[in-house]
Amino acid sequence: MFYTENKDRKIRIFDTTLRDGEQTPGVSLSIEDKINIANQLDALNVDVIEVGFPSSSKGEMDSAKKIIQQNFDTNICGLARAKKTDIDACIEAGVDTIHLFISTSDIQLKHTIKKTKKQVKEIIADQITYLKDHDVNCLFSAMDATRTDLDYLIDVYQKAEQAGADTINVPDTVGITTPHAMGQLIKKISKEISIPIDIHCHNDFGLAVANSLHGIEFGASQVQTTINGIGERAGNASLQQTVMGIECLLNLQTNIKTEKLYETSKLVERLTGIPILPNTPIIGENAFSHESGIHAQGVISDSETFEPGIMTPEMVGHKRRLVPGKHVGRHAVKTMLSDAGLNPNEEQLNEIVSRVKNLGDKGKKVTDVDLYTIAEVVMNSV
Ligand code: KIV
Ligand code: ZN
Repeated sequence: MFYTENKDRKIRIFDTTLRDGEQTPGVSLSIEDKINIANQLDALNVDVIEVGFPSSSKGEMDSAKKIIQQNFDTNICGLARAKKTDIDACIEAGVDTIHLFISTSDIQLKHTIKKTKKQVKEIIADQITYLKDHDVNCLFSAMDATRTDLDYLIDVYQKAEQAGADTINVPDTVGITTPHAMGQLIKKISKEISIPIDIHCHNDFGLAVANSLHGIEFGASQVQTTINGIGERAGNASLQQTVMGIECLLNLQTNIKTEKLYETSKLVERLTGIPILPNTPIIGENAFSHESGIHAQGVISDSETFEPGIMTPEMVGHKRRLVPGKHVGRHAVKTMLSDAGLNPNEEQLNEIVSRVKNLGDKGKKVTDVDLYTIAEVVMNSV
């Protein structure tokens, strides 16, 4: 059971579908696609949209500018390395928030930025001071935070706060933390700094959502997510799962219009070409589907018998479905047929159920159309 203390906390949702999500291998969105997704994220009511990395290409700069021209109420953020040129690009694009990042783990200091710990602290102070002179919000990320020496990490975050950062982000860049460790890390950091804490979890071990929820329980007030969990390698924490976890399991609030989750997920699936598996929680085609006779019969009389209840398909803009197959029962078949205007007698119903099961036993997927065809044949002959 979760044990969040302050039940009135509202958690801010920072969406990075257009930045980390677009870093999904094989995904490349056109400017029109990005604008389309940004409009949907605005309608979903996320608190922050990270639109991209303006210094990285002309397309990134143009799409950031075009999204900003839409004049959303949502806060717009751009990514920048801790470099003046990257900060200038974000300012030129016109973002509200700059997400400034620099590596802090030993392995990344040695192999990627080739700087000492002391140099990194100096860069952080200089670049945040420069950024804040331009009157923009600063979200500071210590990249690879979960593999960074804890004393140094706290030192870095304190430097960032002193230099004027508005929020600090704790990224689990390679997805190697666990829920317990993330909770303890956030608890320790929150004792040492006074600005809000954001978390960014990758899904290499399938724990991104669990790690995010634990970070929130222990004090993070903002969480970074992507629609459908897309992102580098195994992706980021899924927005849908994180939001429903926050609201239904932690009993905290977000500003998300959850009834738009399914349509948002479908849009991102179509534009990125990354398919959603049927058994994906919340938005997969099977998330609220029932085939087994026992389950279907239970759900027909009370959906809470075989669904969580605290989360319904209506809450997320999805639909409950009874599906035909070899595990189906008479009750469910009768309901499915009656919903389609077909009302077989008892003898016909038995025959229809038997033919559906036979088909399923042969390893065939039985669709709704197969069921109606079987029913019509049986009702015309038995
Ligand atoms: O995973 C990561 O560390 C990032 C940073 C830019 C925050 O995406
Ligand atoms: Zn990331």
